[in-house]
Amino acid sequence: MCRPAGYICINKIIKEMVKYTGPIEWKEEYNVNNSVIDEHHKKFLEILNQLGEISSGGDCNNKISEVFFSLAHYAEHYLLREEIIFKDYPGFAQHKASHNKFMDVITRLHQDYKSGKDDICIDIYDYLNNWFESHILEYDKEAVDYLNSKGIS
Ligand SMILES: [Fe+2]
Repeated sequence: MCRPAGYICINKIIKEMVKYTGPIEWKEEYNVNNSVIDEHHKKFLEILNQLGEISSGGDCNNKISEVFFSLAHYAEHYLLREEIIFKDYPGFAQHKASHNKFMDVITRLHQDYKSGKDDICIDIYDYLNNWFESHILEYDKEAVDYLNSKGIS
């Protein structure tokens, strides 16, 4: 638990301030020119920003369930839909493996939350932020660029 005058609490506040500087705005350069994938990516960014907002409000532990609910929907609908679109991509197996790992990590973080682990909001924000930057903005874009270049997207 975060105690008002405790070192861990102060350290946690500093860590959150460093990590979260406000909502990330969607930029034109994030578009991959596939309306379905772009819609999925915007939805994910909404979830990331939702988490950022509740974390910065200091009420994360009480509201994080909403984020897990949104992530479950994202995984069930959007990642599976993306896999259908990417089925002819040569790197499909590795891409699907990356999605599976994402779902495993979210499941583990959800279990950590349910077992009362501290700082879960920071851990999950770090993970989702990294997923946005490395998977969505790079890995997904690479796949869509390939499919667009072959005219099969
Ligand atoms: Fe993906």
